[in-house]
Amino acid sequence: MKIDFNHMLQASIGEHGISGQEIEVMAARVPQVHKNMCDKKDAMAWRNLPYNQSSVVEEINKEAKRINDHFENFVVLGIGGSALGSKALFTGVKHLKYNELSREKRGGVRFYVVDNVDPDGINALFDVIDVKKTCFHVITKSGNTVETMSQFMIVLDKLQKEMGDHFKDNIVLTTDKESGILKKISNQYGFKTFTVPDGVGGRFSVLCPVGLLSAAVLNIDINELFAGAKEMDAACTKESLWENPAYMYALLYCTAMNKGVNISVMMPYADGLLNMAEWYAQLWAESLGKRYGNDGSIVNKGQTPVRALGVTDQHSQIQLYAEGPFDKIISFIDVENFHTQLKIPQAPIDMLDAAYLQGQTVNKLIASEMRATEYAVTQAGKMNMRITLPEMNVKEIGALFFFLEMATAAAGEFLDINAFDQPGVEAGKIATFALMGREGYEEKAAELSKASGKDDQFIYTV
Ligand code: PA5
Repeated sequence: MKIDFNHMLQASIGEHGISGQEIEVMAARVPQVHKNMCDKKDAMAWRNLPYNQSSVVEEINKEAKRINDHFENFVVLGIGGSALGSKALFTGVKHLKYNELSREKRGGVRFYVVDNVDPDGINALFDVIDVKKTCFHVITKSGNTVETMSQFMIVLDKLQKEMGDHFKDNIVLTTDKESGILKKISNQYGFKTFTVPDGVGGRFSVLCPVGLLSAAVLNIDINELFAGAKEMDAACTKESLWENPAYMYALLYCTAMNKGVNISVMMPYADGLLNMAEWYAQLWAESLGKRYGNDGSIVNKGQTPVRALGVTDQHSQIQLYAEGPFDKIISFIDVENFHTQLKIPQAPIDMLDAAYLQGQTVNKLIASEMRATEYAVTQAGKMNMRITLPEMNVKEIGALFFFLEMATAAAGEFLDINAFDQPGVEAGKIATFALMGREGYEEKAAELSKASGKDDQFIYTV
């Protein structure tokens, strides 16, 4: 993987880039950032995941075999960090129309992720799966998340109606080792249960059972995934800024943030990587969007992530990126070798001025469009960078996950904030409990009902 930061710099994009002096100033903080990354390594338990899970991987592979032997579908029920990693991994390495392939070509069950509580979305799934032939992987680290628990209850009811009390094999749980409602349910009913290791937060959990069971069910080689993560780890634990791409990413992004560049666009040029951009959006937003600094002062840090898809969004967002304000960094992700080649053939009619395309490949077209767009935004003086994957294989995807996790953790250190909590999300979770009438949240419900009224003048009913 190549990670090229050239177009972040004043030397290449002009006045709106980062100067050598700005790098020097921020680089003076690298020894402290590095020390913190070392001192806090044990608290960042996700960093050990590529190394310490051999026995759980064995169990996961056994469970995945059982699922593939007995079912037609595998459905993840979860939200946020409990869902996005599996989605990114799935589309990152599997066939893009995987579920529509024959079972023989897929080599396993169909795969779905339910990460919303849109009734139409959930019911649509039930229209295309037979619940009796479906294994549901219910994932919630806290074990209490309202969306996931509701999905779980809907599924249990459907299973019970179809199968009486013989649905235990259709359910696998992943949750905390001791706390939360899901763990209590696991203890009481004996569902097969995996554990989210201590110190592994949702958005950093793709390399533990949260993402690994999906990986194994999809016949993705977990050791390859770990191999990529380990290679990246070796680079991203180096002390020197000039050898450590995660530190450089964090340094440049935080320098930009401090100058008011408050948007981070991730724009992969590959359909299969759009979910990676989605996963990154959560990682970057939830980790760095913080009101308080580590010293308790109000800092209101963060950078808004945007997911874009090349080339599709060249025809929707690039106009803004090229000519709009200097408030964003665009990270392009390109892929050197796609799984397939697609030639633009000789057309059976005269293509007039479009004839130059004949005989070329779509592979060359997408690569050229990426370079052309990169050139255009660079000419316009907009900060951008490029991550190049030699191909979209399991190892590269493992490395990309790990790179972005390490860069996010290092950015937390540069910004002097806690990248691993999410009090803003918790506040919404608690308000939802109150609005849904959960016992113990009566006071919050009363507070919400007293929340300031709205001025009708500003409400238009058409
Ligand atoms: O990264 C996080 O911690 C969050 O996005 C959680 O993953 C998300 O809120 C779901 O939480 P849980 O896994 O507890 O259901």
